[in-house]
Amino acid sequence: MTAGRPPPAAAAAATPLPADFAARIVRWQRSHGRHDLPWQRTRDPYRVWLSEVMLQQTQVATVLGYYTRFVERFPDVQALAAAPLDEVLALWSGLGYYSRARNLHRCAQAVVAEHGGAFPRRAEQLAALPGIGRSTAAAIAAFCFGERAAILDGNVKRVLTRALGFDGDLAQAAQERRLWTLAQALLPARGVAAYTQGLMDLGATVCTLRRPACTACPLQADCIARREGAPGRYPVKTRKLRRGQRAHALLWLQHRGRWWLVQRPDRGVWAGLWSLPEFASAEDLERVVAGWPGAGRWLPPLQHALTHFDWTLTPLVWRWPARGPVPAPPGDGGGRWFTPAEALAAGLPAPLRRLFAAA
Ligand code: ADE
Ligand code: SF4
Repeated sequence: MTAGRPPPAAAAAATPLPADFAARIVRWQRSHGRHDLPWQRTRDPYRVWLSEVMLQQTQVATVLGYYTRFVERFPDVQALAAAPLDEVLALWSGLGYYSRARNLHRCAQAVVAEHGGAFPRRAEQLAALPGIGRSTAAAIAAFCFGERAAILDGNVKRVLTRALGFDGDLAQAAQERRLWTLAQALLPARGVAAYTQGLMDLGATVCTLRRPACTACPLQADCIARREGAPGRYPVKTRKLRRGQRAHALLWLQHRGRWWLVQRPDRGVWAGLWSLPEFASAEDLERVVAGWPGAGRWLPPLQHALTHFDWTLTPLVWRWPARGPVPAPPGDGGGRWFTPAEALAAGLPAPLRRLFAAA
C-alpha cells in the first residue's frame, strides 16, 4: 500500500489482493467475453473513443446502430471535427445525455487542432480532452496502445468492490481514490486490453446489479461479497440522488403546415437541441396566446426522466390561421419555422421527436 493515513479498520481488512485475479479475468474473457462488437475489431482510437463515449451511459444493444451510422457519416476524426454541431446532435438524437455529443464534437476539433488529427496515446493526455474522463481515457489507452491504465466505471466499481469486499463509502473522494489505487494494483503486467474488456464484460453480463450470476463467475473462489452472501451490499455509496420534479408548458405553434422551433441555450438540459418554446406554467403560456387568432388545444403531458429530476412537459398546440398576418412568435430570436420533415431531421430531444413523429 502507499504511504499516508491508515484507512479505517473495516476497509483495511477487506483489501488483500487475490492472487491470479487478472489471469482469471483474462481467461474468462477469452471463452465467455464479448469479441465481435464492431469497435472491438479495431485499434483505431477514433472508433474506440467513439464507442466508449456512446457506451458511457448507454447499453451495447442501443449503441450498435448509432455507432454504425456515426462511422458511416463521419469515418474519421477530421470528418467529425468539420461537421456542423447540429448534424452531430441530429445523429445523436435519442442517445440522451447530449453533453456527450457536444463534447464529442469539441474533442474531435481539439484532436485536429491540438494533436494534428491523431489521438494522443497516453491515458493522461487523453483525459485532458473534452468529455474523456479518467476511466474512458484508460480504456482507450489500454485497448489501442496496451497501456497499463486502470478503468473504473460503474460496472467495474461493482465487480471490484464485491470481489475485494471493499466497503469504503464511494461518496467520499478519499474512498474513491483508494479504489482507483486498488484497480491500478490489480492490472496484469501484460494483456491489459483483454483484462480491461473482461472486467467490463463481467460487470455487464455476470456481476450484475440485481442478480449476480456468481456460479458463472471466474472470481467466485475468493470473492468476499459472495462469501458473505451479500453481493447487493456493494458498492457502498451513501449520498442518495434526490430526484426533483419540474413542470413546464410548451407552445407548439403551427402556421401553414410549419412549426415554430427554438434552439435551446448552450447550457442546461437539452443544450443546443431544437425544441418548442418553453413556459414556466400553463397560465403563463395562456396569457401569451390570449389575444391570438386561431385556436389552441392542450395535449397530454409528456413525462421525461432526467438525471436529477422528473420533468413534465405539457404542449399546447396552437393553429394560427393561414390567412392574415404571420405570427410573431414569442422568444428573443433563436427560432425559425420548420416543415415537419425538417423538424424530424433536426437535433431534437427524444420526447419531442416521438411527439412530432406521431403527428
Ligand atoms: N461499456 C463500456 N465500454 C465497453 C466495451 N468496450 N465493451 C462493452 N461494454 C462497454
Ligand atoms: Fe460478482 Fe458474484 Fe463474481 Fe463476486 S462471485 S464478483 S459477487 S458475480
